[in-house]
Amino acid sequence: MDSLIIEGGSRLRGSLRVNGSKNAALPLMAAALLADGPSLFKDVPNLSDIQHQINLLRELGCVVERQADGDLLINVTDEKNSHARYDLVRKMRASICVLGPLLAKRGYARVSMPGGCAIGDRPVDIHLRGLEALGAHIELDGGDIIVKADKLVGAEIFLGGNFGSTVLGTANVMSAAALAKGTTMIECAACEPEIVDVANYLNAMGAKITGAGTPRIVIEGVPTLHGTSHTVIPDRIEAGTFMVAAAITNGEVHIDNCRLDHLMAAVDKLRNIGVIVDKDKGGCTVASVRRLEASTFTTQPHPGFPTDLQAQFMALLSIADGNSVVTEKIFPDRFLHVAELARLGARLHKEGSTVIIQGQKRLTGAPVMASDLRASAALVLAALAAKGTTTVMRVYHIDRGYERIENRLNAIGATIKRVNQEELDL
Ligand code: EPU
Repeated sequence: MDSLIIEGGSRLRGSLRVNGSKNAALPLMAAALLADGPSLFKDVPNLSDIQHQINLLRELGCVVERQADGDLLINVTDEKNSHARYDLVRKMRASICVLGPLLAKRGYARVSMPGGCAIGDRPVDIHLRGLEALGAHIELDGGDIIVKADKLVGAEIFLGGNFGSTVLGTANVMSAAALAKGTTMIECAACEPEIVDVANYLNAMGAKITGAGTPRIVIEGVPTLHGTSHTVIPDRIEAGTFMVAAAITNGEVHIDNCRLDHLMAAVDKLRNIGVIVDKDKGGCTVASVRRLEASTFTTQPHPGFPTDLQAQFMALLSIADGNSVVTEKIFPDRFLHVAELARLGARLHKEGSTVIIQGQKRLTGAPVMASDLRASAALVLAALAAKGTTTVMRVYHIDRGYERIENRLNAIGATIKRVNQEELDL
């Protein structure tokens, strides 16, 4: 198991490029199951979650090839096996996004029920409600969800829940409805840019989808979809993480392949606390020249402040001037990073789904434990600003969502070394 050893205190300066979005690539790859013929995806990041999805698609009868230029080719050659086994699903919850495409294309899917994870319970009831409304018969057997339908028929479907809509649920229902007979209207659809990306890919395959990116998506079902080529959108969460890296080190970083229009809430927050964010060709430059101000934010569905940047911004506000308040409204228990940030000297008080942050002049390096993907990113960011050495253990969590983060940050002035546990024990 690898750890990162981080020497804090350097200002980051230089330029880096944001990779394609993990959270767009995962449902896009699943949607390739709908195609008659191959699809070619450009800018699919090289991450462990993507490798899990490749392994799953191979089990489901796809030939998946990473080409020399990095493009990912997916071709369905055998539709016999529609079972996503627990062994694969437990490694990556997002495997659930094969459910809708398998149901629509093959009339049957058996997908192991994803369990909870470090950020909360994460039920899939809304996914199932949506597929049922399209005419699927659903049962549970041995921890697996079994969905069947001779024919899916368009319907009016409400996809809202207690915490807003569901991103992968919207991708599942939209993908299934693309091949249903008649018209489907999804109300309270997720508006995240990743959903727009999936809709754009489906439309390029021959689907008829309008309204993606708004709460109402309308889908005219078509009988078949063909393969196509598609470039994955830039990863807005990776971009936001790099923005915080620039801000927390009082650095100046040009971030290439970054869509500010996908990150308005986070950019607005950065500017409000004193970070300079200048849009330029292909991306933006983020700089911080003084102590930052405290702030308040609440995570919300897009276009609100993203839950996937909550931990990273908490690290940033830990060294802001004054008291900040952060409220988590998407995953109310997503706070495993709080106790670890406290080990670096952050003063945090958690009350339910709210954390009050008393800004400190500085953080101090310490050994800390990564607990989930974004929590790990927050620890790396805090470590970049901390005085002394921080060891972040269990970084396989960070490898799920950031490709070789240490190499990319080192290229702009960070000092991060990856070691495995045996080296640490010596
Ligand atoms: N929810 C339900 N029932 C459902 C589905 C969701 O109650 O059937 C609840 C969830 O428990 C949560 C809220 O609805 O409270 C939103 O969950 P959502 O379904 O939107 O999450 P997701 O689609 O499973 C994606 C991202 C997450 C990101 C969330 C929210 C992928 C692969 N994952 O998950 O990304 O936090 O949307 O934006 O796209 C990450 O990248 O670190 C990550 C966790």
